[in-house]
Amino acid sequence: MESNLVEKIREAGARALEAFQKAASAEELEAARVEFLGTKGQFAKLMKQLGTLSKEERPAAGAVANQLRLEAVEAHQAAAETLEGAGSKAAWLDVTLPGRRPSRGHQHVISRTAAEICDIFAKLGFSIVEGPEVETDYYNFEALNFPHDHPARDMQDTLFISPELLLRTHTSPMQVRTMEKNKPPVWVVVPGKTYRRDSDISHSPMFHQVEGLIVDKGITFADLKGILTAFASAMFSADTKIRLRPSFFPFTEPSAEVDIACVLCGGKGCRLCKGTGWLEILGSGMVDPNVYGFVGYDPNEISGFAFGMGIERVAMLKYGLDDIRMFYESDLRFLTQF
Ligand code: DAH
Repeated sequence: MESNLVEKIREAGARALEAFQKAASAEELEAARVEFLGTKGQFAKLMKQLGTLSKEERPAAGAVANQLRLEAVEAHQAAAETLEGAGSKAAWLDVTLPGRRPSRGHQHVISRTAAEICDIFAKLGFSIVEGPEVETDYYNFEALNFPHDHPARDMQDTLFISPELLLRTHTSPMQVRTMEKNKPPVWVVVPGKTYRRDSDISHSPMFHQVEGLIVDKGITFADLKGILTAFASAMFSADTKIRLRPSFFPFTEPSAEVDIACVLCGGKGCRLCKGTGWLEILGSGMVDPNVYGFVGYDPNEISGFAFGMGIERVAMLKYGLDDIRMFYESDLRFLTQF
């Protein structure tokens, strides 16, 4: 028969397990720990009494006491972990807080302006095509009627990769590539990146252009003016006037620079238009018959016109910006305004 002491130890063990399980807070659990497992707790007291047992009884009683104490320690630990988990979850999840909205990205103002320009021309019947940024001297210059050593090549500070390969200085090479691949009628616009050795408040070594080309039967200079007037009123405002000034490009004859009435003063003259009332937006002209020679078109059967504009320039005029570098600095305070 077990001694009285062992019975008491068994009872203490059972009560300890019950108390740890029942503890509803960290404070209750700690009180139970002190009561049963503390240095002056029930287990300590009972174990001290083991010394009063006879030599024969002591080993078995000691083994029971140790086993029950160990079970109590484990039960205490399990209870502590359960309470802790519940506590930290409560602190982490406050269901009354308003939700956090993930911030949404949006198109860069240059991509958006390019898309807007292309959309306007798409509605007028143009297709949109793209071409390589690493270009050959042939497409960038030669086939556009820039002969070797012609001073017109100096108009564009070219970034060469090798004597024959370069970063295209304009989107005009796509005129040649498009005509090579297609028979007239050709109605295309070409958005894309272009490169020049140039960098200041209005020039960037990488910038964007949109090229336009129509080659069809009976296309005249009046069509050029009509299409570009339609573009200006769709892009800026419905009553935007345009003006054509004689100019020179090797691949067009005659050539014209196109201005729009100043978007700020409407033509009266201000700081933006430097008092002239006009802002230059693009270069254009009737395709030079020499260019048709490079692509096997017969200038007696067809005619056409081309134009090219800087997308940054259009965006700067449209949104009243004065520093081209803002587009590339990834400053969200600037970019999120569009
Ligand atoms: N490629 C010219 C430039 O970057 C712009 C240009 C002028 C394009 C006249 C044309 C054009 O298509 O007809 O300076």
